[in-house]
Amino acid sequence: MEIPDVLILGSGAAGLTCALRLAESGIRSTVVSKTRLQSGATLWAQGGISAVLDAADSLDAHVADTLAAGGDLCAPDVVRRIVARGPACIDWLVARGVQFTPDDTGDTARLHLTREGGHSYRRIVHAADATGAAVETTLADRVAAEPLIRVRENAFAVDLVRDGARVIGAYLMDTAGHEVEAVSASAVVLATGGANMVYLYSSNPSGASGDGIAMAWRAGCTVANMEFMQFHPTCLFHPTARSLLISEALRGEGAVLRLPDGTRFMPRFDTRAELAPRDVVARAIDHEMKRIGADHLWLDISHREADFIRGHFPSIHARCAELGIDITREPIPIVPAAHYTCGGVLADTAGRTDVDGLYAIGEVACTGLHGANRMASNSLLECLVMAEGAAQAIAAAPLPARQQDLPPWDASRVTDSDEDVVISHNWQELRRFMWDYVGIVRTNKRLSRAAHRVALLQREIEEFYGNFHISPDLIELRNLVTVADLIVRSARARDESRGLHYSLDYPDAHPTPRWSLLAPGNGDAVLVPLEDMRRAG
Ligand code: FAD
Ligand code: SIN
Repeated sequence: MEIPDVLILGSGAAGLTCALRLAESGIRSTVVSKTRLQSGATLWAQGGISAVLDAADSLDAHVADTLAAGGDLCAPDVVRRIVARGPACIDWLVARGVQFTPDDTGDTARLHLTREGGHSYRRIVHAADATGAAVETTLADRVAAEPLIRVRENAFAVDLVRDGARVIGAYLMDTAGHEVEAVSASAVVLATGGANMVYLYSSNPSGASGDGIAMAWRAGCTVANMEFMQFHPTCLFHPTARSLLISEALRGEGAVLRLPDGTRFMPRFDTRAELAPRDVVARAIDHEMKRIGADHLWLDISHREADFIRGHFPSIHARCAELGIDITREPIPIVPAAHYTCGGVLADTAGRTDVDGLYAIGEVACTGLHGANRMASNSLLECLVMAEGAAQAIAAAPLPARQQDLPPWDASRVTDSDEDVVISHNWQELRRFMWDYVGIVRTNKRLSRAAHRVALLQREIEEFYGNFHISPDLIELRNLVTVADLIVRSARARDESRGLHYSLDYPDAHPTPRWSLLAPGNGDAVLVPLEDMRRAG
């Protein structure tokens, strides 16, 4: 097999953009997906991409909104750098053929801007309510047509290969035959997305199992701010339907949250009401559900004209209609669900990690853009900017020679498992206790219960991993339990409530904003003052 210059693990917005940007510089890459090329959370993204395009809006306002939503924990230099690239990234996507919804004036050169929580202006560029699908399918077509990019579908990255201090490739498992191959590269880019399947209820596709975070951790990377797991306030509550996000853009266009008796409650919690940042809205919903003993609440946009609703939210309208809910006439049953991993592999805006040869871009990374709580539609923006930055950083430095003779995968000591029930049982157990003990509201006691259970599962799963042939389910479970451990350890170190980390034992914020950092080999997470973190790179 021809050895690629750059191995990109993941084919969402971050991975595809990075490959295309590298090709623009004449650099060859291989893009790997554990499933299809079109996959990941990107394909499911709804609301849009934030960028300052309105004449009344400003870069300063976008920066200020992001900092405020992030609970004073964002790295201001990172925020400014990423936000400043927004308009250019939208231009880049448009030039590649992404069809965003035009302005209501009918002027196709002007894009319609919607609004979401935390944003003080309309600044969300979107393709109706299926922005991610528009971006992912267009970029995937471009990638498939690009001679400098090779695509490997159904290839599961199991682990990174290191030579001394440098990452030199990855072990890829063919998901059909379970054969593992060592693939060499001059640089490896992790673009594997988040870890939101660590919770029982999630808005994410099932592959969001934190593989990249776990692989980077095993390879020696520092991870940051893992306790800040974001819960989206409004996912459809339905006994049988697969998870369906009800976009925040509905609230941006006037939808209100209601109790079962029809009362609106958000104004009691925040002056911004339904357009408060996500942590505030999700906590308010959780509080009201627990107070009245409800298993869900309601989101109501039925006061807007039916044509407007169908025009702006065609996918959500159609999916709800299939389930017997007419959103033009009745409220939608909703619950919060795990949505976004704000922490991750510590990286600068060009994706550089603290391990040579390894970059991390998109949701797998933690740059400091999101702080303690991500503002809506800032994630796809971060994917685009980091992918561009990583491609530039890789192009700027001479690529080291690729090693031909990587150590082969050793399966000599394992046999076929006769007890796969261990895997399915542990998947469920892990996701259930993470939901119950490490969810929207935390306590010291719940976190210590979770830590105890994580340790038991880790021992059992490592034993299974050491004795039996690997499978995608086993690898994802192993990675999820690693991520759960990182989340719990980070949460236990944080002696305050901030953003998405809310503890009944420490209801107030500490006067000094601090990042939590975990480095391999260190037992406890350390809290480092934000002013000591310089991240833009
Ligand atoms: P992903 O798009 O998740 O892609 C990950 C890729 O990695 C996939 O190709 C997967 O197959 C591959 N992969 C993972 N593990 C492995 C492995 N071990 N080996 C090989 N391949 C692997 N953000 C916004 O900014 N705006 C929105 O409107 C928005 N809406 C959202 C709606 C939903 C329902 C969800 C779930 C998220 C939404 N988000 C939104 C968040 C945003 O979509 C994600 O943060 C973003 O798409 C992540 O992109 P990514 O490229 O980092 O990873
Ligand atoms: C949404 O459409 O509500 C999701 C937006 C986001 O997660 O940024």
